[in-house]
Amino acid sequence: IKIAVAMGGPGSEHKVSMATGQAVLKALLEEGVDAVELVVDGHEIVAPEGVGLVFNTIHGTFGEDGELQRQLEAQGVSYTGAGSVSSLLAFDKVASKKRFIEEGVPTPASETVDCSGGVQMPKMTLPYVAKPPREGSSVGVHIAHTEEEAKAAMEDAAKYGDEVLVEQFVEGKELTVGIVDGEVFPIIHIAPRSGFYDISNKYPWMTGEGGTDYYCPADLCAELTQKVKDAAFAAHRALGVEVYSRVDVLLDADGNPYVLEANTIPGMTESSLLPKAAKEAGYSFGKLCLKIAEVSLN
Ligand code: DAL
Ligand code: MG
Repeated sequence: IKIAVAMGGPGSEHKVSMATGQAVLKALLEEGVDAVELVVDGHEIVAPEGVGLVFNTIHGTFGEDGELQRQLEAQGVSYTGAGSVSSLLAFDKVASKKRFIEEGVPTPASETVDCSGGVQMPKMTLPYVAKPPREGSSVGVHIAHTEEEAKAAMEDAAKYGDEVLVEQFVEGKELTVGIVDGEVFPIIHIAPRSGFYDISNKYPWMTGEGGTDYYCPADLCAELTQKVKDAAFAAHRALGVEVYSRVDVLLDADGNPYVLEANTIPGMTESSLLPKAAKEAGYSFGKLCLKIAEVSLN
């Protein structure tokens, strides 16, 4: 079977997606797969002749929001990862949160602020986190502790769309949990050297600043480990995600987990989070890519 690795995309995560795409392509080639590059720049994808599977590595807009999935479904071409419906749900943090609450998945208290007629301030008490509901890689995400920070946070987050999702700030550990084909991988503890896991701490290679330490498996007792894994898996299930995702979870000092979101096109460079967790579970990067491809074809 011939695989086209779709990468790039029209959104704000284009550069990250190119890195993910190149890493996946290289790994598939090394595993002996007949794989080709498929760079997508606009809002349309056409699978090349003879391609039996599109390996989707387009983060964010178009690739992660269900649109690419819808277009490939219309062409009768298989693709990796979540389907169009669950992708749309998982990519929208407001819709995801609604589903989490319905399904009893713990998640931070929130308020959705309509800024279509100009920036409005939330009623929530500080500190809180303001984020555009439909972006990735922490684009436009700000933690606000003061009124002044809050104003700047809301103004920036509102640049990405009409709505801003405001979440109560949870002080604690930043964790992430990879799930592939129903298998929950060891938890990663993400420890930014300063601030939170924002764009510069995520991609120091891209931004030339920041830095983060990672611990996998996270240093948590058996009980907390299970609690966090259960919350992550419940979130993955609640959204109906197929094949794989990486679920971001905060753990407060009292041991309460709070799910932020499920990423259906998680970063997949060799140093990214899901590959780190997969390695700990016994899958090399190449084997992880093959597994995602195989499970997606079934
Ligand atoms: N949105 C980035 C790529 C991630 O979740 O890994
Ligand atoms: Mg995300």
